[in-house]
Amino acid sequence: MIHLIPSHQGRPADDPIFSLHKEATQRRARGDRVVDATIGVLLDEDGALAILPTAARAVREVPSAEWAAYAPIAGSPEFLRAVVDDLFEGEPEMKRAAVAVATPGGTGAIRHAIANFLEPGQAALTTSWYWAPYRTLCDEADRKLETFEMFDAQGRLDAGALDAGIARQLKVQRRALAVLNDPAHNPTGYSMSDDEWSAVADAIARRAADGPVTLLVDCAYFLYGARDPRAFLRHLRPLVGRATLLFAWSASKSFTHYGLRVGALVACVGDDAERAMVRSALSYSCRGTWSNCNRGGLAAITRLLADPEMARACAAEREQAKASLRARVDAFNARARDRGLRHPRYEGGFFVTVFADRPHEKAEAMRAQGVYVLPQLPASPAGAAGIPGAARGALRIALCSVADRDVTPLVDALAAVLAAPA
Ligand SMILES: Cc1ncc(COP(=O)(O)O)c(C=O)c1O
Repeated sequence: MIHLIPSHQGRPADDPIFSLHKEATQRRARGDRVVDATIGVLLDEDGALAILPTAARAVREVPSAEWAAYAPIAGSPEFLRAVVDDLFEGEPEMKRAAVAVATPGGTGAIRHAIANFLEPGQAALTTSWYWAPYRTLCDEADRKLETFEMFDAQGRLDAGALDAGIARQLKVQRRALAVLNDPAHNPTGYSMSDDEWSAVADAIARRAADGPVTLLVDCAYFLYGARDPRAFLRHLRPLVGRATLLFAWSASKSFTHYGLRVGALVACVGDDAERAMVRSALSYSCRGTWSNCNRGGLAAITRLLADPEMARACAAEREQAKASLRARVDAFNARARDRGLRHPRYEGGFFVTVFADRPHEKAEAMRAQGVYVLPQLPASPAGAAGIPGAARGALRIALCSVADRDVTPLVDALAAVLAAPA
C-alpha cells in the first residue's frame, strides 16, 4: 500500500541540473577533462566559487548571538528597509508604496507571489523559455503555469503575446499573474531593452483596467545585466495603484552567497489599506512556510546594503567579477558568430541558450565528450518559432561556471555536435 498521496507519487527526486553537475564533478575528480556548463554559480578561472571578499567578511563578522536567535517572522525591519532602499534608489513613489518580507532567496519570494496572488488551481503566466523551478513552485502550491511565446519574429520579447496571455487569464480566471525574469534571463541570457519594458508596461496598464493584474519581476540577476539595473523601473512607476508590482529580490547572486538563503518579496501597492492587507498576508505566509529566515544572513546582507563603505567595496568587487564574466560573454559571442550558432541577444549574465533541434540527443553527444550543458524544450509547441530559422529546442550554457580558456572549445564542441547529421 502506498501512503504517499497519488498526486505526489512519481515526482522526480533530483533536479536535472544538480545531477548533471554531480556527474561532471565526479568525472573531473577521476581525472577526465570536463567542461561543466550546468550550474548557475559564478566560478573563477580556477573553478573555485568566485566570492566577493567583502561579502564573506560581513558574514564572518556577524556575532554568534545573531546566528543563534530567531529573526522576526517577516524579517528584520533594518533588512527590509535596506532592500527597499536598494531596489528603489531614485524612485521615491515606488518606495512609498513598498512593503516587503524576507524570504529564503528569490525562490521563497516567487513562492509567496504564487500563493498570494493566485487562487488554488489558477495559473501564473511566464515566457515560453523559463527557469524550470517556476513549474515546481506552482505544482507545490497547487497552482499551474502557462506560457506566452517569448520572442517575436525579430527575436525581441513578444509584448503582444504577453498582452494576449494576460487578457486570456483575466477572461478565464478573473486575475492574472505575469512573471518576467529580467535582466539576464535564465535560461536564454536575454535582457530586455528600454523599448521592450515600455511595451510590457503598456500591456499591463491596458489590461489592468479589466481586472486585477499582478506583475512579478524576478530580478535574481539584477546586478549582472549590461545596463543600469534600475532603468526599467521608470516604465513601471506609472503602474503603481493600477496593477500590483512584485519584485523577487535575491542576495544569492548579487552577493555571491547562494547558500545564505537571503531574499525578499517586495510589493508595490498604491492603496494604503490594500498595502496593509498585503503586508499581513505575506507575513502570514512566512509563518505558514519557513516561519522565519536566517537572522545572521539578514544581518550580514543588511550591513552590505546599508553601510556605505561596505556597499562601495562590494560594488567594486562585483564589477571585477562582472568583468571576468564579460570576457567570457565576449569570447562566446565572437566564437558563436564565427561558428554560426543561433542564440538570443546576449549582453551579459550567467547563462546563454543556443537553439538546437533534438536538444536531449545533442546534450548527450556533448556529455560523451565531457562537455556538460543543459537540454531545454520550450513550453509552447511553437517553440522558438519567432527566431528566424529557429529550432525546436535549445542547450543552456552556464558561462558563469566556465573558465575563459574553455569558452572557445565549448563553442567548437557545440558547433560540431549541432552540425552532425541526425
Ligand atoms: C531565474 C531565477 N530566479 C530565481 C532564482 C532564485 O535563486 P535564490 O533562491 O538562490 O535567490 C534563480 C536561481 O538560480 C534563478 O535562476
